[in-house]
Amino acid sequence: MVKFVVEYGKDSEPFAADGRLDGPAFHRNHDPIWSTLSDFLSTQTGDVLEIGSGTGQHVTEFARRAAHLNWWPSDIRDPHLKSIAAWRVHARLGNLRAPQRIDLSDPDWTWSGGDGRQLAALLCVNVLHISPWSVSRNLISGAGRLLKENGRLFVYGPFKRAGAHTAPSNAQFDASLWERNAEWGVRDVDDLNILAQDAGLTAAEITPMPANNLILAFARMLRQN
Ligand SMILES: C[S@@+](CC[C@H](N)C(=O)[O-])C[C@H]1O[C@@H](n2cnc3c(N)ncnc32)[C@H](O)[C@@H]1O
Repeated sequence: MVKFVVEYGKDSEPFAADGRLDGPAFHRNHDPIWSTLSDFLSTQTGDVLEIGSGTGQHVTEFARRAAHLNWWPSDIRDPHLKSIAAWRVHARLGNLRAPQRIDLSDPDWTWSGGDGRQLAALLCVNVLHISPWSVSRNLISGAGRLLKENGRLFVYGPFKRAGAHTAPSNAQFDASLWERNAEWGVRDVDDLNILAQDAGLTAAEITPMPANNLILAFARMLRQN
């Protein structure tokens, strides 16, 4: 394992010589996340796009575990894009594609490399609470455009349910996010479900995760036309 650790939201220097970053949360959460994703992905073919890949450790590990899928990482920050690229070189996986810059602040965001194919799944881990609400909106509308029918959008992180935090620690975390940036915050599943309905997705199937996190799985419904 590389010895340098990234602290998201801050400029974390230095980097390992090849640019790989090591996120502590990855070591705690990738097995529980995979246990939910793999139920669906084991039956799929095609492409999985990750938004906000950060260090690139999740997408690299998941590409290793699901060699039958093409994995496409992305991020907006140069040090993260460099880290993802370095993990990709290190892992030597033929099904892990080069990182691309995708910014969910753009309502018309898309991905490149799939020759117009629609995605089997979209993955977004620990992004929606450290970004403005427009990022949640654009993620979900993009899932409506880019997922194939019955494809899934998986979102991992802390969430409120029915307007309430699921644990005191999440409430404290939410307050600390607000202090850092008034546009950030722990999102409510009900609000995301409203966006999902408008985008042609089902309401979230909710899987509890350790440390008061959740995975929300939204399915792309059949297109009417
Ligand atoms: C807390 S980190 C999580 C990284 C990684 N998914 C993980 O769990 O280790 C949030 C990530 O979201 C990215 N991000 C923030 N705003 C974004 C945006 N508007 N569009 C795409 N990615 C964004 C950041 O650059 C960062 O890599």
